[in-house]
Amino acid sequence: MSGIKLYDKTFQLFLRSEFIQQTVKKMADRITLDLKDQNPVFISVLNGAFIFTADLMRHLHFNCHVSFVKLSTYRNDSSTGTYKELIGLNEDITGRTVVITEDIIDTGATITFILEKIKKNNPAEIRTAALFLKPEACRTDIHADYIGLEVPNDFIVGYGLDYNGLGRNFKDVYKIEN
Ligand code: IMP
Ligand code: MG
Repeated sequence: MSGIKLYDKTFQLFLRSEFIQQTVKKMADRITLDLKDQNPVFISVLNGAFIFTADLMRHLHFNCHVSFVKLSTYRNDSSTGTYKELIGLNEDITGRTVVITEDIIDTGATITFILEKIKKNNPAEIRTAALFLKPEACRTDIHADYIGLEVPNDFIVGYGLDYNGLGRNFKDVYKIEN
């Protein structure tokens, strides 16, 4: 499909599924090199990261755990937000290597909040894996170990990413038409 319509907005094809899959595989290869002997815990941030996390996991052929957290955001403006934990962490991660998996780092506020939360559970190490990063929107001090692709500062949907709940199910990624 070259374009989709969600509510009142139209979106144009931006990244094809095959390319996204190659990107995820490359991330998995790097994670494997670094962490294959560490039995890491992957902590996926719902809802957006569910497809990315599932595809990433299928490329990891070593022992690891996966768990999920879910936040709700109340945005004050583009850079700050208050978060509420809707699903918290129910694993003991003391002394473990943790990899947070996110769909996209935009301003970096969400990942910063999650990092602070996870740190309080005394893991040995925390790494972050984000499929997409928007460097133009992102604060410079963001800690990101594995980035799939840098994307322009445009709103995108598909492959887990949504516009008001719609669009997560598309296998390609689409960019908003201005
Ligand atoms: P941040 O807190 O500004 O880094 O934003 C991260 C969260 O905002 C991601 O987990 C996404 O849920 C959402 N988000 C940011 N940019 C986009 C986008 O272009 N499309 C869909 N969701 C986005
Ligand atoms: Mg998200």
